[in-house]
Amino acid sequence: MRLTGRRAVVTGAAGALGSVICGALAADGADVIGADLDRSGLDTVESAVTAHGRRWIPAAVDLTDFDAVQDTVGRAVKDLGGADILVNSAGGGAVSFFHEMTYETWTTQVDRNLTSVFNATRAVLPAMLEGGFGRIVNISSVAAIGGGRLVRGATAYAAAKAGVVGLTKALAIELAEQGVTVNCIAPGAQATGARDNDTPEWRESLLAQIPTRLLGEPEHLAETVVFLSSAAAVNITGVILPLDGGHSI
Ligand SMILES: NC(=O)c1ccc[n+]([C@@H]2O[C@H](COP(=O)([O-])OP(=O)(O)OC[C@H]3O[C@@H](n4cnc5c(N)ncnc54)[C@H](O)[C@@H]3O)[C@@H](O)[C@H]2O)c1
Repeated sequence: MRLTGRRAVVTGAAGALGSVICGALAADGADVIGADLDRSGLDTVESAVTAHGRRWIPAAVDLTDFDAVQDTVGRAVKDLGGADILVNSAGGGAVSFFHEMTYETWTTQVDRNLTSVFNATRAVLPAMLEGGFGRIVNISSVAAIGGGRLVRGATAYAAAKAGVVGLTKALAIELAEQGVTVNCIAPGAQATGARDNDTPEWRESLLAQIPTRLLGEPEHLAETVVFLSSAAAVNITGVILPLDGGHSI
């Protein structure tokens, strides 16, 4: 129980990775605020947290809306009496070739994957600074490192996720002496439901690019989040950690 008494905020909590992260944080002792656009999806995560005897607060909000996030997430943090951990997992990609990409596609990708990180972090950080302890874990992507080589047409997503890398490093420096660490996980392809429709040919071409020939397991990623959120990770900050089976080597 590495997180007993800690209070966590997880964005994208209704998602394939966010929901597993919520359960893993609770299993190690943390109460969890789950923020997501998907209100009914949040309801399905509740038992993964309460089964461990931890408190669950759903925060249904569009994370691209600055004022709504300050209000909704800010209120949930007050309800919980503070915040020690923030996992920024909300996001998602869209394929669009650059020469025909609309301004709307570009801004939607940047807002969903990067501005959401600013909005949530801005809402939670004051409580961390007040408590003198904080662990921020941002979920970027291997696309931020390798340009999204798996899928052509990922420029907006890759650019936004690379923005998360820059934000992580600059914020880690800014907060280094205040008890708040900021780290980033850059996952490669994960074994989530999104992969269920892969054809055997597509799956083989994917695995051929991954030295271990393994997709990431959400439970392993969640375990990494728990470690980075723990007291033991006190001297780890500004790290960009690929969880990608060597894909980015
Ligand atoms: N699954 C993978 O293979 C993989 C690989 C690399 C990176 N990632 C990144 O990991 C994170 C989680 O991925 P996932 O597989 O759980 O995706 P997912 O689509 O299952 O979950 C993303 C969640 O974010 C929420 N969300 C999106 N936009 C939002 C908004 N504006 N406001 C509030 N909530 C919003 C969605 O409702 C969803 O519940 C994402 O940032 C993704 O880019 C995933």
